[in-house]
Amino acid sequence: MNELSSQWHAFPCQQQPTYQNKALLDETLATLKQAAPLICSNELVTLQRLLAKASSGEAFVLQGGNCAELFSDCQQQLIIQKLMMLRCLSLFLESKLNKPVIPIGRIAGQYAKPRTVLHEIRGEISLPSYRGDLINQAEFNAAAREPDPKRLLLGYQAAAKTMQYICDYLAHETTLLKDHYGWQRLLTEAKPLELELPLTWQEIIKSTYENSNMLAPIYTSHEALLLAYEAALTRNDKQKHYNAGTHFPWIGMRTSSPDKDHILYAAGIDNPIAVKIGTQVNADYLIELVKALNPKNQAGRLTLIHRFGREYITELLPPLIKAANHAKYHVTWICDPMHGNIHYTTSGIKTRHLHDIIDEMCQAIEIHRKHGSVLAGLHIEMTEEHVTECLGGQQQLTEVDLSYGYKSLVDPRLNYGQALELLAHFAGNY
Ligand code: PEP
Ligand code: CO
Repeated sequence: MNELSSQWHAFPCQQQPTYQNKALLDETLATLKQAAPLICSNELVTLQRLLAKASSGEAFVLQGGNCAELFSDCQQQLIIQKLMMLRCLSLFLESKLNKPVIPIGRIAGQYAKPRTVLHEIRGEISLPSYRGDLINQAEFNAAAREPDPKRLLLGYQAAAKTMQYICDYLAHETTLLKDHYGWQRLLTEAKPLELELPLTWQEIIKSTYENSNMLAPIYTSHEALLLAYEAALTRNDKQKHYNAGTHFPWIGMRTSSPDKDHILYAAGIDNPIAVKIGTQVNADYLIELVKALNPKNQAGRLTLIHRFGREYITELLPPLIKAANHAKYHVTWICDPMHGNIHYTTSGIKTRHLHDIIDEMCQAIEIHRKHGSVLAGLHIEMTEEHVTECLGGQQQLTEVDLSYGYKSLVDPRLNYGQALELLAHFAGNY
């Protein structure tokens, strides 16, 4: 048992709900401690090796999915569509970048959300904010917004079901993609962008995966926010102490203080881990984080997902790269060009403009190139649903369009066409 990951609760805990029914919480956590692991520890070794390759430029990571998954979306057909989108975009990128792309979903556990504003006010009524399906419900009434320990079990069950759907999908993927509308959808979305898809589906199968009928695995990730839940799903396996609820947990920007509980928890597990890096991080903070999370300086162990916003990246990223380079730290750098570029419309709708997202991403490419570091991946919020949540793009979505197809309960996601457009820009500038 690794000491660190069991000591997190001795430290001040950020962004955690307060449960009224403590007895039920304890009972639920006790059940989760006995629950079957959702991943195998040997998959973590492979993933870390792949992340190490990405950090040296031999592979590339595409991490994407919903800002928050919903329990009600845990349906096989919906999961298949999400996986198909992630896979097709990865194959698209792979063919453009000429290197293996590692698909990592924000999937099978992305149910808990940190909130900047802890209360939501509608008219005269103020209620606790919705914190993701793992914690409370989105409906605007007091009972729904009360944190409910039973939801931890529902979250585990939904994640387990999703893992099953992923396994099943991977086992039949080549047939599904060929026969289903998976590849077709990519072609449809590429057309208005006048994107040349370099290969046919058959050619991709033949050239990239000649000796196997199966494509490379799709890995899972989520924000490790609710520490009681994450700790209850932490397991020992031989020498390993790992989070058995996901392959690749990340620590969010709001909970990334090097001396606090979330980082302490992450330091004690053997999964490859990621941390979101925002405007609060300077070189000293970064060095503390790296020392805490990757004391043996192993390649692929630590990913830093930077998300500054297009206005700040040029000023704030270079000192961090220099500090990591100077100390010869192994870091896998991933760019999240979305979370620093949120704004509200005049009518109060939370959105992002594709133009800003592309701008930050292109700046990231330039900065890494200039400082001799490797931009190893992209982290994006996207959905295969026909949503209108982000502005701009080839579809030229405007503020008026946001009211037609805005489904996200938290952050606005790129739709398929916008995500493809982003990646086409990436490939063109990389
Ligand atoms: C997120 O990824 O949904 C998120 C909340 O990110 P960040 O911690 O970067 O704000
Ligand atoms: Co988000």
